[in-house]
Amino acid sequence: MEKSLHDIENLTRDDLELILATSEQFREISERRVKKVPTLRGKTICLFFIENSTRTRISFELAAKRMSADLINFSASTSSLQKGESLTDTVKTIMAMGVDLFVIRHSAPGSSRRVEQVAGVPVINAGDGPHAHPTQALLDLFTIYRHKKKIEGLKVAIIGDIYHSRVARSNIFSLTRMGAEVVLCGPPTLIPREIEKLGVQVTYSVDEACKMADVIMCLRMQLERQQSGMFPSMREYIQLYRIDEKRVSLAKDDVIIMHPGPMNRGVEIIPEIAYHHRSVIEEQVTNGVATRMALFYLLLGRGNEETAD
Ligand code: CP
Repeated sequence: MEKSLHDIENLTRDDLELILATSEQFREISERRVKKVPTLRGKTICLFFIENSTRTRISFELAAKRMSADLINFSASTSSLQKGESLTDTVKTIMAMGVDLFVIRHSAPGSSRRVEQVAGVPVINAGDGPHAHPTQALLDLFTIYRHKKKIEGLKVAIIGDIYHSRVARSNIFSLTRMGAEVVLCGPPTLIPREIEKLGVQVTYSVDEACKMADVIMCLRMQLERQQSGMFPSMREYIQLYRIDEKRVSLAKDDVIIMHPGPMNRGVEIIPEIAYHHRSVIEEQVTNGVATRMALFYLLLGRGNEETAD
């Protein structure tokens, strides 16, 4: 593996398998009565979130604490960014206090690479605009693997606003690299042209996407982008693309239902399906902590056990 995680494209199948196996080990730690290991004792991690987040930020924080790292929780709204300090100078200032790894969320694609250039330490991309959300794709892969015991040959239907979705992009790379058959579905204006070149199929029929699916992955309808004219009306979207009991019944009997969150209840998915016995949405959140612990271990923790004392 490279020293930072900016996107999924740079990960080999061996890397993905290593992350899955390591996540399983850390999932076991998260189920213990005392959920803490000394692996990152003496290391300092900065959570550098310039864009809002609930589950990604909290699970990175929990992962760092469970591994005994020291944590800086940078808050953009109360920082000197508000006084005009640049991103570069802010990162340099934090680095001067001694940081071993940055986790960054930012609205600008490529921001995690920029932080790595300035900081010179490993960086994990926690979502950079519409470009990539690699840790979401890795926790999704881990959740699918725990249920299906394989990825190769599975049919995964990703449904919704593919165009704006960093989650979809990162999942396409991880799932196809592991041999899954990925079917994308959404309104034609929300499916990027020539996306088939990434080795996926495209359909505009949600029934066709769901038919015989092993996994149905719903995406958040990005309501803030509705003004752009790329969406049909909400009523039409719900009628054509919302995941409900009838659509789930077209999938395999052991289908699992996923959603990265945050969810618009009743828009991309009905609540009865979000909390259905086939839904693994809460489990995705649980697995996010184990996956992020695994990444901290692989990027920062290996070899630290000997130097911790
Ligand atoms: N899935 C996801 O990235 O959620 P948050 O924006 O709450 O972190």
